[in-house]
Amino acid sequence: MDKFVSSWYNDQSLPESYIFPPHERPGKLLVPRCNNVPVIDLSDTRTNLVHQILKASQEFGLFQVVNHGVPPNIMSETMSVFHKFFELPAEDKASLTVYTNDPKRCKLVTSTLDYDREKIHLWRDVLRHPCHPDCIEFWPRKPLRYREVVAACSIEAKKLGLQILELLCEGIGIEHGYFEHELTEDLLLGPNHYPPCPDPSLTLGIPKHFDPDILTILLQEHISGLQVLKDGEWIGVRPIPNAFVVNIGYILQVISNNKLKGAEHRVVTNSSDHRISVVFCMNPAGNSNIEPAKSVVTATNPPLCRGFQFKEFVDNFYSMEGDADLALQPFKL
Ligand code: OGA
Ligand code: NI
Repeated sequence: MDKFVSSWYNDQSLPESYIFPPHERPGKLLVPRCNNVPVIDLSDTRTNLVHQILKASQEFGLFQVVNHGVPPNIMSETMSVFHKFFELPAEDKASLTVYTNDPKRCKLVTSTLDYDREKIHLWRDVLRHPCHPDCIEFWPRKPLRYREVVAACSIEAKKLGLQILELLCEGIGIEHGYFEHELTEDLLLGPNHYPPCPDPSLTLGIPKHFDPDILTILLQEHISGLQVLKDGEWIGVRPIPNAFVVNIGYILQVISNNKLKGAEHRVVTNSSDHRISVVFCMNPAGNSNIEPAKSVVTATNPPLCRGFQFKEFVDNFYSMEGDADLALQPFKL
């Protein structure tokens, strides 16, 4: 357990193994607030929503949604459950840190699953588990209401994600229901805990990446940290009470044949506050076929890649150390 940042952050200066090379460091930590990502009010008319969500997904690949219909108590209870979870004593979490290859089981790790081989560690601890009802028996038993609260929130997150995908389908001309089954079958939960950091200018919670999924729905509190890359500049995603952050995953960019833009994002740390973010990744089933949707491919917009199985991409993604463009390379036309 002693590798976990949360168990030693308090009594250490930043170890060398957490220091990123100068060109990857956060740079100036104050990001312009005026230049914020779009905030979309989901109670607007459908025509307006289709337009706004499409525009945000093409320009930023990331936006926030408010008035989304998810009950605020489900959101606050979920945050509270994860605060309690990350504060549990080590012995209560020990069974979750045992190495396992079983995709149904929970994994609690520090930095990434590749801690022993990676060159630079990330300033975070992270839990990962599938949300499918068949996996609930493997979810943490503590804190007491974990299973009940997380199940309720994951149902809401998936519903919200599917609603946004429907609006996007309408916007780019993909048939209704395209994402409803196989392509969003595996909802993966990944709550992150970023403890206060002795030197946020040298390290990162997560370096620049695309999420290797269809869509990511993220719940955060009032502590900043998430940034999105827009026209070569990092923009802070300002926390808004009761909003969800939505980001376009790399696989959705592929299916849209580059009509939508996957969000390149990263997480910076801070020296005073614990930050917890709760991430729901909408993933295709491993054996589902991923290809540019037939309806977006035309003579003037030929397919950027051939079809492939989602699990082939994921295998490449991890062997390429999380570089999505390299992972897609073997399938490009
Ligand atoms: C992620 C991620 C953002 C955040 O887990 O992939 O980008 O704010 N998280 O924690
Ligand atoms: Ni991410």
